[in-house]
Amino acid sequence: MSGIVTVVAPVNIAVIKYWGKRNEELILPLNDSVSATLDINVMCAKTSVCARPDFDEDTIWLNGKRESFSNQRLLNCLREIKDRAAYEKSVDNIFLTWKVHICSENNFPTAAGLASSAAGYACLVSALAKLYKVKSDVSLIARLGSGSACRSVYGGFVRWHAGLKSDGSDSIATQVADSKHWPEMRALILVVGESKKKISSTKGMKISTETSDLLKYRVEYCVPKRTEEICQAIKERNYNKFAEITMKESNQFHAICLDSYPPFTYITEVSHKIIELVHTYNEICGEIKVAYTFDAGPNACLYLLEKEVPKVLSLIKHVFPSSSPEAYVTGLSSRSEHLDTNMLSKLSVQPQEKDLIKYIIHTKVGEGPTVLVDGSHLMNEAGIPLSSY
Ligand code: ADP
Ligand code: DP6
Repeated sequence: MSGIVTVVAPVNIAVIKYWGKRNEELILPLNDSVSATLDINVMCAKTSVCARPDFDEDTIWLNGKRESFSNQRLLNCLREIKDRAAYEKSVDNIFLTWKVHICSENNFPTAAGLASSAAGYACLVSALAKLYKVKSDVSLIARLGSGSACRSVYGGFVRWHAGLKSDGSDSIATQVADSKHWPEMRALILVVGESKKKISSTKGMKISTETSDLLKYRVEYCVPKRTEEICQAIKERNYNKFAEITMKESNQFHAICLDSYPPFTYITEVSHKIIELVHTYNEICGEIKVAYTFDAGPNACLYLLEKEVPKVLSLIKHVFPSSSPEAYVTGLSSRSEHLDTNMLSKLSVQPQEKDLIKYIIHTKVGEGPTVLVDGSHLMNEAGIPLSSY
């Protein structure tokens, strides 16, 4: 028995955004947020963990490179899992004194605005929970790694409850609906840029919390109503309502970035073109067929129903052509559909220069973290990564 535990965990993309903390250290948000967890088979973090008496120190490798273990968020997650294991008496006390080796990889760009921290910390905490046999909810521990990570602990549609308690014990995630509930829901991630963001989410939301009046208004008046409405829309599979709230939420979040002092912006000219295209297309169709949302970066996540994917993909390929069309769309496959010339004649957005969108990830709503039992660990029997640089 190697004693290695390996878990894969998903990313999630919020439709009600988390932006602003009431407690920086405990990562307690100002408002509830809601997201969809995306298919592990397309985008995932994979983490192997192992604890042994002969390990000299706690060690982590991220994407094959050894990283510092002094990262406070990492330390907090490990400490909380061990405390929970001690409280639950789930393992022998001696096991808790052994050092751990952690080896993690993302199958998509890290720190590029594609929610690697959410998948990464959900994966880490789920793997440690399995290693130390922790049984209770671990969303609150994942939250200590990165706020949005607490939503990646569950599949389907997930709500992170801001909570009221000062110790954060009620700031947890719960499932609104499981991954089978709305099987037609799809996501297209339009990767506009993969470079590291200039202002991290952590820093950006701190500036907004300290300076934006619009954020105060949003937290008090907009989010509570929208959260209830979107949870209801998800339960009823009401796409129109879901899509409208999703877009308004994204727009308000980016307005808050501009309302912050000093202001900052994550979305670019290309992002704005995507927004314009979505609104123009929906208008031509006479109903909402596709919705956008943007996190702390220029990449769009389009939520749409499966039957709309072929047309929308053809439309994106037409307006945002690629110089390598065969590699343009990754993830789930989809047939292509001829675009109606009548629709194209009404389209006010002209075809753009090539490669403004680098590539597209086609995915769907999926399950939460999964323990792998096939032995495909990222480390060898000695607890050393199989691939390291
Ligand atoms: P993103 O937009 O991809 O979430 P962030 O800059 O917010 O980027 O977070 C990136 C950080 O998240 C990394 O520097 C690392 O600390 C952490 N992280 C990302 N992936 C993993 C992983 N698989 N395991 C552990 N930590 C991870
Ligand atoms: C725009 O969870 O990355 O993606 O808690 O400081 O680690 P920290 O921030 P993080 O912020 C995510 C912000 C967002 C919106 C969202 O996912 O809800």
